[in-house]
Amino acid sequence: MVTNVSGYAAHSKQDRLAPWNFQRRDPRSDDVMIDILFCGVCHSDVHNVRDDWGNAVYPMVPGHEIIGRVASVGSTVTRFKVGESVGVGCMIDSCQHCKPCLRGLEQYCDEGSAYTYNGLDRHDHTPTYGGYSENIVVSDKFVLKVPDGMELKGAAPLLCAGVTTWSPLRHWNVGKDSQVAVVGLGGLGHMGLKLAKALGADVTLFSRSPGKEVDARRLGADRIIISTDAAQMGEVKGRFDLIIDTVPMLHDINPYVPTLALGGTLVLVGYLGDLDPMLNTAPMVMGRKSVAGSLIGGVKETQEVLDFCGRHGITADVEVIRIDEINEAYERMLRSDVKYRFVIDMASLKA
Ligand SMILES: NC(=O)c1ccc[n+]([C@@H]2O[C@H](COP(=O)([O-])OP(=O)(O)OC[C@H]3O[C@@H](n4cnc5c(N)ncnc54)[C@H](OP(=O)(O)O)[C@@H]3O)[C@@H](O)[C@H]2O)c1
Ligand SMILES: [Zn+2]
Ligand SMILES: [Zn+2]
Repeated sequence: MVTNVSGYAAHSKQDRLAPWNFQRRDPRSDDVMIDILFCGVCHSDVHNVRDDWGNAVYPMVPGHEIIGRVASVGSTVTRFKVGESVGVGCMIDSCQHCKPCLRGLEQYCDEGSAYTYNGLDRHDHTPTYGGYSENIVVSDKFVLKVPDGMELKGAAPLLCAGVTTWSPLRHWNVGKDSQVAVVGLGGLGHMGLKLAKALGADVTLFSRSPGKEVDARRLGADRIIISTDAAQMGEVKGRFDLIIDTVPMLHDINPYVPTLALGGTLVLVGYLGDLDPMLNTAPMVMGRKSVAGSLIGGVKETQEVLDFCGRHGITADVEVIRIDEINEAYERMLRSDVKYRFVIDMASLKA
């Protein structure tokens, strides 16, 4: 039986998000039905709602940093029980048999993973609707366990901002001897600082915003470099093994490449599209440096970052909002006025 659900949706790229009722599909035998408690607000929600990537399908119910409680489970589900705290991130399905899927990298599925929203269900091809809503139905393989005792509102952003910074930190083997930098102190950036510090790295923040110094240090940065200050950029020449660039807009990445150490990598996770100005290859060639990209993380990595955060007492720094404050939250996010992740208290849908 389908479930009637209330949520918030965008109906076009010009529209503000507004209340919208829709139906969740009939749960299948491997499905978990989750009552949503909190949903983080990712800058990707803003990009998707405003169709920055040209693939928006409306009505769109955004939200892929979902924390909730199991309401019911299908007959073949053994890993979850009713009442348990669980999470859902950016994906709800993938083919499960291609090489990336078999390596636990479902985000790179050869057939394309099914996104939590603005995607299609792989079985019945109905549109997927995300976490700005009362509940969600997800196959058990894509449901994450929340470590016991973890603060639930602060756990939500781990499902996207957390794993998106964790995946490159792990892929490039960051540890005690690593020099790591993060570009941009927003939702992803603040998780990058916390996670890199907890892995034992020496951590630097590149920011355009001088006012973020105190927060950055509290979040794990050993130093802050104002990226528009050429003298400060010169001080960190040749330093970093890994730079995670979280900036959501087109920006010049050339000034960062000389700050990489020999063999270092600048990994873009924020901006999608052509670079302008173009990338100068000279500092890359002369120092065997790489510019790379990285997409969220697989289910295994997502559970790994949740468990790591559980052991290290890490959650996101969040500002809890009501669902009817979501349009203002988007505007604030575009002004970089967020410390450091908005999280919607989903009880406000009913209030
Ligand atoms: N690859 C993936 O899988 C993945 C996953 C999630 C999100 N994303 C993308 O990652 C990006 C960041 O997401 P978020 O949620 O962390 O966003 P956010 O909270 O808005 O933070 C972005 C930060 O980037 C800096 N910034 C913003 N505009 C800038 C500009 N024009 N030039 C230079 N710096 C700028 C600001 O930091 P300062 O004030 O410190 O400079 C800002 O706080 C978005 O594009 C999002 O879609 C990608
Ligand atoms: Zn996201
Ligand atoms: Zn696959």
